[in-house]
Amino acid sequence: MPTILAVSGSPSPVSSTHQVLGLAADRLAGRGHRVETLAVRTLPAAELLGADLSHPQLAHAAAQFERADAVVLATPVYKAGCSGLLKAFLDALPQFALAGKVVLPLATGGSLAHVLALDYGLRPVLMSMKPRAVSESFFVHAGGIRKGPCGFAGLEPDTQALLHEATDHFADLVESLTEAAVPTVRLAPAA
Ligand SMILES: Cc1cc2nc3c(=O)[nH]c(=O)nc-3n(C[C@H](O)[C@H](O)[C@H](O)COP(=O)(O)O)c2cc1C
Repeated sequence: MPTILAVSGSPSPVSSTHQVLGLAADRLAGRGHRVETLAVRTLPAAELLGADLSHPQLAHAAAQFERADAVVLATPVYKAGCSGLLKAFLDALPQFALAGKVVLPLATGGSLAHVLALDYGLRPVLMSMKPRAVSESFFVHAGGIRKGPCGFAGLEPDTQALLHEATDHFADLVESLTEAAVPTVRLAPAA
């Protein structure tokens, strides 16, 4: 089964984006995918901004990214675009770090006016990194998030169903492309 890296690009320690990403990761793991996670906010800031991939934590993150067959990139919408944290991480990676990979862009945001932020803001960045395919972007509006006394308390049922749909579509794409990449070996018929 393919390995999928779930990347959280929110700087918040109590992040809705991170939680939504966790739900997507659980769904993918439920289909038998090996899912690893990476919270960019845990990387050392100066080294991240300096793109110092010789730092052990950044080197580890870059290696996780490289060995993944697919990545889910999750970000809060900030100023109508992706977070600077996610962009800094993508900028630190090699130019064609998405080569051969399938990508699911995921965002949470407070305004429906910015429902297309992933498509007009992040998608061009991703395309410059030569992905194999980019799945349909998924935006979670704040109205679809339930909040409890401790913050995030889950998604509203219709939002949860849409997240499952988007995640399943992505998983189908990953599986079909990964299977297609495996060369078929024909055995000679027995004499
Ligand atoms: C600095 C800042 C800028 C924001 N800008 C936008 C924006 O332009 N459009 C939008 O829809 N939401 C915007 N938001 C709202 C966040 O996208 C939203 O609250 C998101 O769910 C936060 O995710 P988090 O809990 O992972 O930090 C902004 C929030 C912050 C803190």
